[in-house]
Amino acid sequence: MCGIIGYTGKQEAGPILLDGLQRLEYRGYDSAGLAVCRGGSAHASPQVVKKAGRVEVLSRLVKEAHLRGSCGIGHTRWATHGRVSDNNAHPHVSSDGAIVLAHNGVIENFLQLRQSLEKLGYTFQSETDTEVLANLIALHYARLKEGNGTHNVLEEAVRQSLAEVEGTYGIAVLSVDDPETIIGARKGSPLVLGVGNGEKMLASDVTAFAGRMQSVVYLDDGQIVRMDRDNFSISTLSNESVAPVLSKITWRSEDAELGDFPHYMLKEIFDQPASLENAMRGRFSQDGSTAQFGGLNMGPRELRQVDRILFLGCGTAWHACLIAKHMIEKYARIPVDVDYASEFRYRNSPLEKNTLVFTVSQSGETLDTLEAQREAKRKGYRVLSILNVVGSTMARENDGGIYQHSGPEIGVASTKAFTAQVLVATMIALYFGRMRDMSFADGREMVDAVRELPGLVKQVLAGAANIEKIARKYAAMNDFLFLGRLEMFPVALEGALKLKEISYIHAEGYPAAEMKHGPIALICGKCPTVVIAMKGEMLKKCLSSIQEVKARKGPVIVITNCPGDIPAGLADETIVLPPSHECVQPILATIPLQLLSYYIAVARGCDVDKPRNLAKSVTVE
Ligand code: G6P
Repeated sequence: MCGIIGYTGKQEAGPILLDGLQRLEYRGYDSAGLAVCRGGSAHASPQVVKKAGRVEVLSRLVKEAHLRGSCGIGHTRWATHGRVSDNNAHPHVSSDGAIVLAHNGVIENFLQLRQSLEKLGYTFQSETDTEVLANLIALHYARLKEGNGTHNVLEEAVRQSLAEVEGTYGIAVLSVDDPETIIGARKGSPLVLGVGNGEKMLASDVTAFAGRMQSVVYLDDGQIVRMDRDNFSISTLSNESVAPVLSKITWRSEDAELGDFPHYMLKEIFDQPASLENAMRGRFSQDGSTAQFGGLNMGPRELRQVDRILFLGCGTAWHACLIAKHMIEKYARIPVDVDYASEFRYRNSPLEKNTLVFTVSQSGETLDTLEAQREAKRKGYRVLSILNVVGSTMARENDGGIYQHSGPEIGVASTKAFTAQVLVATMIALYFGRMRDMSFADGREMVDAVRELPGLVKQVLAGAANIEKIARKYAAMNDFLFLGRLEMFPVALEGALKLKEISYIHAEGYPAAEMKHGPIALICGKCPTVVIAMKGEMLKKCLSSIQEVKARKGPVIVITNCPGDIPAGLADETIVLPPSHECVQPILATIPLQLLSYYIAVARGCDVDKPRNLAKSVTVE
């Protein structure tokens, strides 16, 4: 949802900013731009290059522009205010040329501000809310300079401007008078400061500078940072100084590299044996009968008081929440509710007294989930989270939680983060189950099953070529149905979402029995149905659904761990999963669906890692 980056140091800023923008591109890729100032040459105009399209397009222009300078800011955009165009690309320069700004977020009162600024003679080249903020800062900056202010004028101008702004922002600001200093500020959009040796960086997240900076300071909402190559200081919007907390960067830059894979999505699908291993490492009790978590900040006595759990998330994370419900209700017998975070925050739903709330988010920054977390906390509920990004806003505001340790996920369509979320949820079910009615023996059996999971995932991945063949055969279809029962229903939803996201094929997920109540009308020779039909009590029901599809000439792709139980000739295609404990089946069944959507998207020539209209981390409402 827009990525911003800033660099001040001794090196040429252009290539460093471009590299950072490439790593932030998952946040938005409608347009990109950067501005570089030449250190030491005060009053020199910043060199701005920006263009609709990907960072790749910008890179070519930057090379031709021969930018020189060791301080600069950059931006990759996911359009909100104003269409995708060169003019609307960031950074924006104030009409007096004094201020350069990159912004992530939404300035809600931009129209009123724009009108007032126009009356004062400021002019606008774009339709964006960002250019309004650039001019507003320029206005305060000019007034402060007129008042003979010299000390921290830019920082003060930013502070005064932000006091007039309603909405959300993460910003990076340059002034032409002080070309080695960057001012950053945040409210509602993430921003981190990277501290290196004789250089500093500012970015929407640490992936942008991992490997270059040694330490990071996660800025909080309402904070302003002033940085040059040697120093930085942090203060609040009301100008109180803040003591910085420096953390080590845990991600390695090579974790965010493609290696030999053609796309991040494929790399991340194949990362799953390792990412699942990482999510479970160190989390089994010594006797191997239950799970243990270090960061819950709640003792077993308190956890035993929990009567109900509410899971909140968006998109793929919401699907993980639905699987969590099945797992926890089945293994721990605690009632679980699941809500879209975006709905929960406005519905004012009554929660029972001993309800524990879990937010689930890969990024830890999704605004809807963050606001739902804040609302639950305002109401006095204990909020734990399942998160991937260490130091993210949700991580800093929750009461405790569990990191999934999936490493950076760059592909916009979530894969390895989803399966790790499901795994963590399964381990929570085991943990709560063992506190209640689950026997030692059943606990041991579940732990053993979870430990086997990475090996089983490898076996599923070994069948990728078969899935690719199936994908090619059905890639031209325009509609798909995905069916599953019980915990395979959210898996079906996730399969449908993956396909929609990256191949733009209309796809719907349903509990298999619901098909006959409406979606059956879609079935024809051009609408394949993917049915997840696992061994167990639901198998017969799934087989009946398959019969209903076949009777209407619909092609059927079956994903099953009991191919021998599927009558010969019933399925057009069969994807076989290895036998496993029920508790890991949702994860195993997800892998072929990820591969299917990946290969279909590739066959259709889609841009897998950067699907149209999407952004990985949605930090606006
Ligand atoms: C966006 C992404 C989805 C993602 C959702 C939640 O909509 O496009 O792929 O599932 O946000 O993201 P989170 O970071 O909170 O898991």
